[in-house]
Amino acid sequence: MKILVIGSGGREHALAWKLAQSPHAERIFCAPGNAGTAEIAENVAISSSDLEALVRFAKGNRVDLTVVGPDDPLAAGIVDLFTAEKLRAFGPSKSAARIEASKIFAKELMSAQKIPTAEARTFSDSREALGYCKRLKFPVVIKADGLALGKGVTIAPDAATARSTINEMMNQRRFGEAGRRIVIEEFLRGTECSLHALVDGSNYRLLESARDHKRAFDGDQGPNTGGMGACSPANNWNSKLQLQFEAEIMQPLLRGFLHEGINFRGLLYPGLIITNDGPRVLEFNCRFGDPETQALLPRMKSDLLPLLDATLNGHIQDSTIEWDQRAAVTIVLASGGYPGKYQIGKNISGLHEAAKLESVQIFHAGTNRANSEITTAGGRVLAVTALGSTRKAARARAYEAVSRIHFENCHYRRDIALGATN
Ligand code: AMP
Ligand code: GLY
Repeated sequence: MKILVIGSGGREHALAWKLAQSPHAERIFCAPGNAGTAEIAENVAISSSDLEALVRFAKGNRVDLTVVGPDDPLAAGIVDLFTAEKLRAFGPSKSAARIEASKIFAKELMSAQKIPTAEARTFSDSREALGYCKRLKFPVVIKADGLALGKGVTIAPDAATARSTINEMMNQRRFGEAGRRIVIEEFLRGTECSLHALVDGSNYRLLESARDHKRAFDGDQGPNTGGMGACSPANNWNSKLQLQFEAEIMQPLLRGFLHEGINFRGLLYPGLIITNDGPRVLEFNCRFGDPETQALLPRMKSDLLPLLDATLNGHIQDSTIEWDQRAAVTIVLASGGYPGKYQIGKNISGLHEAAKLESVQIFHAGTNRANSEITTAGGRVLAVTALGSTRKAARARAYEAVSRIHFENCHYRRDIALGATN
């Protein structure tokens, strides 16, 4: 099969790396890819937002399966465009992608199906939202309705922050149209966990649990980022929570899709918070997580390609997924300053030395190859994953690999999966 992976992050490198191991994979393209994907696939210089050019490329090169990494092209309807041209693309349709692209849509669906989530109110008028703030107990969480590059959520500790956030989102349009409507919701306390499910329209198969570390600095301090590290399995997950999650969240969600006439085919990733009362949904994502994918796929023993195929064909219930029982820990190396302003074009050294370590896999994100040098080209630069018999062992190995890699102003968290003794 000829496969096209869309995107340029660590997630897409991990997807291309895993798909390249399939005996069914004949040729892999990555658009636009990075210096890491260039080593295992053919990079194609098309942006993930140039949907027309992607369709033309897939048609012209007789691509059998396209796997869409990021959320934006899904929300813009890339799968509908491919389907109209009789091209197979893995990911939900535009209407199904609303589960991630509109937090208000997701909240309404959860409310109709009684899926446990934070109590929330939605607003399309800033005066009403500002008035509502007067009656609240803080902290509260304020979310732009639409996609905002992972920056559309603010935890407001007091009324003054809530008012300025509402003004920025709704009046100054900091996130453009995404902030035209907002959600104000209850602040939930607990620990977070990411679940990934292959959903084929009627049935689903869960992948193993994973845990993301979203804040920029150690101790969960600093601004939210796309994700600074991950581990799998998550240390706060167990079979009892999983049963509760399937009965209270996954099954009602599939009923909700059916009720709305939505045929969701693709990867669904609920972001959960485990409270004293059980798992609550923070958000739904409609694509693989980044960096969770870089921790999950090295643990997946099964061939990913037939699983994606079965999802698209509506036969996921016939598949089983085998897992390496070892733990995976992934550390993200970022450019100093990320998620704010940062510089690019810094030489990266030590990649070969790090890759020599056993059970270590290095995924590229914002990297570029210029002649024989690999340089930084983005905020999140690399994701280093190590497997180990325990999380602690995986963690030690991952940090040993990280210590061999250098670039100017490299920033990474020292506490990914810290405290994990098993
Ligand atoms: P989201 O994009 O909705 O997952 O939000 C990004 C991050 O904000 C989450 O991973 C949480 O850390 C935090 N967050 C979102 N909603 C809530 C909430 N209701 N209570 C506490 N933290 C939240
Ligand atoms: N790890 C967070 C995300 O992919 O949205």
